[in-house]
Amino acid sequence: MSASFGKSMLVTGSSRGIGLQIVKELAKSNHRPAKIIATARNPTVSTDLQELSRTYPGVHIVTLDVESQQSISSAVGEVQSIVGDEGLTCLVNNAAVGLSADLNSLTPEALTNNLQVNTVAPLFVTKAFLPLLQRAAAQCMGMGLHRAAVINISSILGSITNNWGEDANFKSHAPGYRISKAALNMVTRCLAADLRSEGILCVSLHPGWVKTDMGGPHADITVEESVSGLLAVLSNLTEKDNGGFKNYLGADLPW
Ligand SMILES: NC(=O)c1ccc[n+]([C@@H]2O[C@H](COP(=O)([O-])OP(=O)(O)OC[C@H]3O[C@@H](n4cnc5c(N)ncnc54)[C@H](OP(=O)(O)O)[C@@H]3O)[C@@H](O)[C@H]2O)c1
Repeated sequence: MSASFGKSMLVTGSSRGIGLQIVKELAKSNHRPAKIIATARNPTVSTDLQELSRTYPGVHIVTLDVESQQSISSAVGEVQSIVGDEGLTCLVNNAAVGLSADLNSLTPEALTNNLQVNTVAPLFVTKAFLPLLQRAAAQCMGMGLHRAAVINISSILGSITNNWGEDANFKSHAPGYRISKAALNMVTRCLAADLRSEGILCVSLHPGWVKTDMGGPHADITVEESVSGLLAVLSNLTEKDNGGFKNYLGADLPW
């Protein structure tokens, strides 16, 4: 990581996987935000996270279940007292759940739950933290992590363009998860359009197919490769990237 980050970054779902690795890599970086807010719905069970906050100064653990409005409100209060007048510079909506059911086995309940965590929660978590993002944005100019940003961790599986094979036998796998991430991409575009006049940038980022609990052991890349790429992309975001959909190497992806 060579470029620098803003003053603070909050990551949802940092108990394990990509979220935990983001916190880990940032905490060790020379260019890190002074305040790293690692949130998890049940932080006490993540010994890795506990260890990180004991080892590195400025790593704050906050309980946040993104499905619960009450948990979101109480997290906002806690984060407000951590960041104070500086506000929150960057919110990373990373928490999500997988759903591998095919069209035959998909149920309304499973799809609704997936949409709640993967799509509805990132929007309402962002709305709840907006006053803190606005406070940070009011203190400088331009667009990027130095000012204020919302990063939605999406997936190439949410690409409508890509979900189409020339082969007549092509079948879409994991339609429920794809639907939730396609809708998350629209959340990104709506936020980007609505918040740009306030200088708050919003993008969707695909982390690659990553060896985590969600990606499984046969995925393409390690969590270290994914996160070092994601952080490099993050730190270089500018106004021209607002409302975009990119991968962990910085390439633009089809919607
Ligand atoms: N891995 C991949 O190949 C891949 C590919 C494309 C996109 N992504 C995206 O990358 C992000 C991270 O995925 P990952 O691979 O790191 O997944 P993971 O290993 O399954 O971790 C998911 C994280 O989300 C948290 N979470 C789930 N529901 C939550 C809730 N209601 N409130 C708060 N936290 C909650 C989990 O917390 P608990 O520990 O409490 O369950 C965990 O920390 C997700 O947005 C995912 O869709 C991953």
